[in-house]
This record gives sequence, C-alpha cells and structure tokens, in this order.
Amino acid sequence: MTQQYVAAIDQGTTSSRCIIFDHDGRIVSVGQREHRQIFPQPGWVEHDALEIWENVQQVVRSALEEGGITTAQLAAVGITNQRETTLVWDRETGEPVHNAIVWQDTRTDSLIRELGGDVGQERFRERCGLPLATYFSGPKLRWLLDEVPGLRDRAERGEVLFGTMDTWIIWKLTGRHVTDVTNASRTMLMNLRTLQWDPECLDEIGVPAAMLPEIRSSAEVYGEATGFLEGVPVAAALGDQHAALFGQTCFSPGEVKGTYGTGTFLVLNTGTEPVTSANGLLTTMGYQIGDQPAVYALEGSIAVTGSLVQWLRDNLGLISSAPEVETLALTVEDNGGCYIVPAFSGLFAPHWRSDARGVVTGLTAYVNKGHLARAILEASAWQTREVVDAMNSDSGIPLTTLKVDGGMTSDDLLMQILSDVLDVEVVRPLVSETTCLGAAYAAGLAVGYWADMESLRANWHKAAEWNPKMDPRVRDREYRNWNKAVRRTLDWVE
Ligand code: G3P
Repeated sequence: MTQQYVAAIDQGTTSSRCIIFDHDGRIVSVGQREHRQIFPQPGWVEHDALEIWENVQQVVRSALEEGGITTAQLAAVGITNQRETTLVWDRETGEPVHNAIVWQDTRTDSLIRELGGDVGQERFRERCGLPLATYFSGPKLRWLLDEVPGLRDRAERGEVLFGTMDTWIIWKLTGRHVTDVTNASRTMLMNLRTLQWDPECLDEIGVPAAMLPEIRSSAEVYGEATGFLEGVPVAAALGDQHAALFGQTCFSPGEVKGTYGTGTFLVLNTGTEPVTSANGLLTTMGYQIGDQPAVYALEGSIAVTGSLVQWLRDNLGLISSAPEVETLALTVEDNGGCYIVPAFSGLFAPHWRSDARGVVTGLTAYVNKGHLARAILEASAWQTREVVDAMNSDSGIPLTTLKVDGGMTSDDLLMQILSDVLDVEVVRPLVSETTCLGAAYAAGLAVGYWADMESLRANWHKAAEWNPKMDPRVRDREYRNWNKAVRRTLDWVE
C-alpha cells in the first residue's frame, strides 16, 4: 500500500495554511498564503470569505504538490481556524452576505453594553462561560442581523447560514453545515453543559436557531470532500487554540500551552468538568474526541502580541521584517523606562475592557527605537504574566512549565524574557506547528490513522528550553511599572 498522510488546514487571522504530516507527526510539506485585512473604520476588521476559500484551495494544492502526494494518499483532513470570526452566507448560492467580521473587531462595543442590561458583563457567563465582550461571535452575528437589510427575515426562513471559519470551510468541502464544540464554545450561544445551542442565549442575544450549524465533536468524520479533495474524509475541526492544546498533547488536567501568533492564547486543561474563573479567564472547551467525554479548559486570551510587531513594521516602518524586532531589541540593554500596552482591540484577559486603548508610556529623550522594540517584546511577556497569575489563582496550583508554540517562539530573546517575567521554565517542542498538528491528530484519530492518544504523546519531543535568569527585585519593579502602564489604558476613556 502507498504511504498515507494526514493534512491539516489552518485558516488563521492573517493567512491560510496547509500542512501535511506523516505517521510520526513530522511535517512533510507546507502551503501558505496571506489574505487581505480590511479596515473599513477604526476598530473594524473584516475578511473576504471568498478570497479565503480561494487561498485554502491553493494552499492545499501546493502542499500536495510540494510533498508529491496525491489525494488518494490522504487518510483524512482536519480543519483548524481563527475563532469567533463571523460569517453569514446564502444557503443556495454560497455568496457571503457581508465580509466576515473578525474576532479583533470592536464594532459591537455599544451593543455589548446594551445586551448586558442591568446585569452587565457577566449576564451569560453561567451558561456559556464567557463575559460579554466584542470578541465573541454571538454579538457580531446580532450586528449583522440588525444592519444587513432583510437578513433577519431570511435567517428566520433558513435561507442564510451562520458559521465561524471551520463551518465555512467544511461547508465548502462537503456541503455539510456543522461546527465542533470548541468553535461553538466561542459564540456565547452554546451551553457549556449540554454542548448544544442554548435557547435562552439565542433568545436574549437575538439569533434565529434556523441559521445555526449542528454542533459535533472535534474528531469524527463530518463528510467526504468533493471537488479538489474528492473522497478525502473531513474528520476534525478545532478552533486554533484548542488544536494547539491537543497538538502539544496537553491531555492531563493542569497542563498549559501558550501560542504566540497574532495574539497569544494560554489554555489550561481542566478535565471533564467546566471550571468557572474568579480571575477573568474564559471557561471554554479543550476538545472532544468522538463520543468520549468532552474536556474543558480555562483560557487567557491576549488580543495583541505578534500583531504589535507587525504594527512596528507596517505602521511605524522601524523594521522591514518581523524577526528584525529581536535584532533591534538586542541593540539595547533594557527598555530604557518605556512600556507599551497594545490595547488596540481593548484589553482581553484578565481585564475584559473593550473601551481600553493602547499607550506608550515612560518616554524621555533617551528612548530610541531599540527601547521601543524591547518594550514591544516585553509587552507579550507581561501580558502573559497577568494571565498566568490568574490561572495560578483559579487552579491553586502554580505553573512550573509553559509549553509554547507559534511564530513568535523563534525569537530567543522573547522566550528568555518570558521565562524571566514568569519565573518558570519555558519549553518548545520539536514540531512547533502544534495548531496544525493538533487538527491532524484529531482527524487521524477519527479515521484510525493513529490508534490512541498515548501514541501521540510519544511524538512530543523537547527542542528548546529557557530558564529564568532575572533578579527577583528587578522582576517585581518591572511588573509594578507594567501595571501602572495598564492603568493608563483604562483611564484613557472617560
Ligand atoms: O480567538 C482568536 C484566535 O483563534 C486567532 O488566532 O492564530 O489566527 O491569530 P490566530
């Protein structure tokens, strides 16, 4: 028999990728393509879903070509995706009714306050695990239903369909209208205990059930692909952060991963019962493999980390490629007293303040571009520290090791700063493409390509580690300064 592989499609915030893996979880080939970021107004971020679909097809084709692999050699394909990004399309024609509204978009700020009513931000947390925030899909969908002429009537008649990007891609591949528990857990519309759409949330947020996909597990065959992937089972869907948790093989309660991409997302496996956070974390799904019990997680989401480096490159023009931030930061010893809090989309965990706006503080004539670069890297680390503090308080067990992945983890200086400010060991696996790997693992499990989760654990190998070197007094002083800077973002808005 010819050799078999598993493909993962990662439909991310800035690009779509396809990675093909072999049975040892090793990367065989990769295809990647960026798509446009559409900014119609300050705070608004949109994507063209048809452009994304074109890119998805292209990246799969180029990964197959690069690996010299035929579709017949694909045992399964798994989908992973940017979460919360919200799309509505016509059931008959497949035409999106509007650009997708991206997770970073803050247009629903006033709607959020309205939906909170007298109860406020916590109104839906008991049922869906989330605070009211512009981040999640339900309010974005409500905005579309209110603003696109005639859309609510069409939605009630079942003529248009809602989906996050997993649903869009699976629908395009198979014609099935489904999502998985992890993606559904980011909508504010799924009940965390029943793992079904919550009638009260639907009613109160104002979303017709007829437009919603069926909620399924994260690893099962949803259907066979037609068209360019003819006959390949589409066998997994996980939001990207949940896929990374799975790809890092964080299968035991207490294990944590941190993915450093556009934003940074720390996810803690909490086992088969949902845990409510007292410290600003989200209760979310870890994963659900077929008919096994669902695994829950606590998440600390940070909206802006890698995208702050892109801002330095694209908006300030101080570097010409993202990795240069490290070179620039290494031209100085420290931050020169400068702190940057990138509250571009408000502040996410643990603050959840949609109205916060970014600050650069501590400027003197001494500060140069090297200090700014350093402050940019430190911003990722201190934001992580805030989330880790919240996780430690919620779980009562202090973190000792952080498993990291994502594009920014190739920045050694950042990884050292991270270990310093967290005062824990930071480790990176050999295959740092854990998001795709997690989706491939889930799809492979669903079709029997991998026998069980234990065999996946055996594929995890440490490639690099960083240990704390910072003087504790410096750490404490810097954290105090960081907290002062964060307060400035909150009092920016009257
Ligand atoms: O919740 C948003 C997250 O899923 C986006 O991840 O890696 O596409 O920036 P990424």
